[in-house]
Amino acid sequence: MQTSAPADAVRAWQREGLLFEDALTGGTWDRLIAEAKALRGEASESGFTNTAAHRDGSFCTPSRYLSVKGGPMLTAVSRDTELLALVREATALPRLIPVRCGYNYYRPGDYMGLHRDSVKATITVTFALSEGLPPMGWAPDLADTGGDDLAALVQREGCFPDGFAEREVPFCQLSAFDGYNIPHWRPLVTGPEQAGVLGTFCFFNL
Ligand SMILES: [Fe+2]
Repeated sequence: MQTSAPADAVRAWQREGLLFEDALTGGTWDRLIAEAKALRGEASESGFTNTAAHRDGSFCTPSRYLSVKGGPMLTAVSRDTELLALVREATALPRLIPVRCGYNYYRPGDYMGLHRDSVKATITVTFALSEGLPPMGWAPDLADTGGDDLAALVQREGCFPDGFAEREVPFCQLSAFDGYNIPHWRPLVTGPEQAGVLGTFCFFNL
């Protein structure tokens, strides 16, 4: 007999996100921090200058930060078969596959306005590789909100709307959420103490 556990699991992670504590070893984190440092010189200015709903369902508002594609270490982590099994089990999505990875560098003055990730981000995994990175804003309550209504919200309240939850991006811990549906943002980095490095990779449900 089929139980309701998978459906419950899906509802829980979609609303609350997931934390994969201790999924990676300390040595792996050290190597990721080193790789992010080494690749910083190759990072380029990223971000959008406009507010737009895209054909794949994603949504963007202005943003400013540096980013670079992940190197061999981050690529290997994102393709790790044990981690993939863990994520598939936690989300009850057995057809997830890793699709992309990278590092984002936030300097004073950088930000990422409210957006939804591309259709390939069924699961967005994110983690801080420096200490002191402030939490991101996110709005699980707006997961079903259409692009036009999101645009109206941004027009009214700007790219960092008030009244929504914050989500920690923990230092050296894998945090994951429904990046394609849940609008999220990173407020303006106001000073050097808030600047930092963030890693990310995505899983797409085939
Ligand atoms: Fe995002």
